Amino acid sequence: MECWCVSKLKSWLLILITILILMVCRIDGGCIEEERKVLLEIKTSLIDSNFLDLNGFLLSWVDDGSIGGECCDWERVTCNTTTGHVTNLTLRNMVGLPEQFYEDCKSIWPLNVSVFLNFKELTSLNLSWNCLDNNIVNTGLGRLSSLRKLETLDLSHNSIGNETFHLLGALTSLRVLNLGYNKLEGYLPTLGMSLVLLN
Ligand SMILES: *[C@@H]1O[C@H](CO)[C@@H](O)[C@H](O)[C@H]1NC(C)=O
Ligand SMILES: *[C@@H]1O[C@H](CO)[C@@H](O)[C@H](O)[C@H]1NC(C)=O
Ligand SMILES: *[C@@H]1O[C@H](CO)[C@@H](O)[C@H](O)[C@H]1NC(C)=O
Ligand SMILES: *[C@@H]1O[C@H](CO)[C@@H](O)[C@H](O)[C@H]1NC(C)=O
Ligand SMILES: *[C@@H]1O[C@H](CO)[C@@H](O)[C@H](O)[C@H]1NC(C)=O
Repeated sequence: MECWCVSKLKSWLLILITILILMVCRIDGGCIEEERKVLLEIKTSLIDSNFLDLNGFLLSWVDDGSIGGECCDWERVTCNTTTGHVTNLTLRNMVGLPEQFYEDCKSIWPLNVSVFLNFKELTSLNLSWNCLDNNIVNTGLGRLSSLRKLETLDLSHNSIGNETFHLLGALTSLRVLNLGYNKLEGYLPTLGMSLVLLN
């Protein structure tokens, strides 16, 4: 007959193992905590711009307070289901302007593009229709070259001018770059991507 303390120890071990298994499963299916925080920061930066009526906007991007919470099933976000890292961000038209205002739009979203450095496995970033201007240079556009998996960057329908163009050449992992409908003018040098859309 087993002594009382051994069977008690066994059941504690069983509970501990069960908790560990549950934790591992959660991390496996969830998203990376650091990346979840950054997504929430992006949402805050939009709210802080005071321009937007965020009613009904990014409703799924909520902080439920849990560590290792879900963000891979948020709208506009896609993760690699194996690693849990964010791979695709579709942040198009975050400023919610009607189309006729884009013709001459001014910077209204104080986006610091350095935030994207936190998404180590980012492959596709869609920032179209956001009234972004050359300020994205000052906030570290060139540094995005350290995102070695970034293949697709859509910057179309913004207010980006000449200064930005050269820096984009540093993003050597890019295969598709869409710069259509911006303020790029005159002759522009060739970049290394396989597809550069200018119109
Ligand atoms: C997800 O990540 C794993 C491990 O890095 C990689 O092998 C796989 O190709 C990735 N899947 C996608 C769809 O990118
Ligand atoms: C994510 O981006 C990659 C690279 O641009 C693309 O091939 C893939 O179709 C995108 N996936 C989704 C779910 O949008
Ligand atoms: C980015 O979003 C725009 C607007 O919805 C869409 O037309 C475009 O195809 C997207 N770009 C990529 C690379 O998926
Ligand atoms: C952008 O963010 C980076 C990293 O957080 C920071 O070092 C930098 O000062 C910011 N730049 C601007 C112009 O706010
Ligand atoms: C933009 O740069 C190109 C050459 O890089 C030049 O031909 C063009 O005049 C510039 N446009 C403006 C508006 O500065």
